[in-house]
Amino acid sequence: MLDQLHIRDERSEDADAVHALLKAAFGPDDPAVPPLVDSLRRNNRLSVALVAEAGGVLIAFAAASEAWAQHGEADIAAIAPVAVVPAFQRKGIGTRLMREVLDRCRRAGFEAAVVLGDPAFYSRVGFTPATEAHLHCGWCDGPAFQAIALQPGALERIDGLVEYDPCFDECN
Ligand SMILES: CC(C)(COP(=O)(O)OP(=O)(O)OC[C@H]1O[C@@H](n2cnc3c(N)ncnc32)[C@H](O)[C@@H]1OP(=O)(O)O)[C@@H](O)C(=O)NCCC(=O)NCCS
Repeated sequence: MLDQLHIRDERSEDADAVHALLKAAFGPDDPAVPPLVDSLRRNNRLSVALVAEAGGVLIAFAAASEAWAQHGEADIAAIAPVAVVPAFQRKGIGTRLMREVLDRCRRAGFEAAVVLGDPAFYSRVGFTPATEAHLHCGWCDGPAFQAIALQPGALERIDGLVEYDPCFDECN
C-alpha cells in the first residue's frame, strides 16, 4: 500500500474531493472539519496542504496554518486537520503524511508545530504534551494538545496560550 502512495501539494481542483474525504474520515461527530478547511483555503490561510493519492484517488489529507504563542518569538505551525479515509486507516498512511507535513513546515520556515489529537498517534512522529513546554490551548488543555520543535530550542523560546487562525474560532 505505502509503495503506491503519492503525496503532493493540494491543487485547486482537489477541493471537492478533499471536502468529501474529510467528511468520510471525521464522520457525523465532527461536521465542522470540512467547512473549516474550506474556510482556511478561501482565506488563503493554508500554509501547507498535502494530499495522498493511491491509484489516482485521494485517500488522505493534512494541512498546516499559522499559530501564535502568547509569549516569545517563534514561527508556529498548527497542524490540522489530518485525515485518512476509513478504509485506508491503520496502514501507516497517516504517519507517513505527518512526517511529510512536518518536513514541509520545517522547510517553509516554521520553527515549532502544535496539534490537537490522540497522543498515541502523534507521539509516533515526535510530538510531546504541550504543557511540558508551558504551552496551552484555549479549547483543550489535556494531553491531546501537543507540540514539537522543528528547530532546536524553539519550544524554549515560547510559552502561554497558543492562538490558532481565526478561521478555527468559527468551528469551535
Ligand atoms: C488519526 C488518523 C489520521 C491516523 O491515520 P492512520 O493512517 O490510521 O495512522 P497510522 O496507520 O499511520 O498509525 C496508526 C497508529 O496510530 C495510533 N492511533 C491512535 N489513535 C488512533 C486512531 N484514532 N486511529 C488510528 N490510529 C490511531 C495507533 O498507535 C495506531 O497504531 P496501531 O494501528 O498499531 O494501533 C486517521 O485514523 C484518521 O483520519 N482518523 C479520523 C480523523 C481524525 O481523528 N484525525 C486526527 C485529528 S485532526
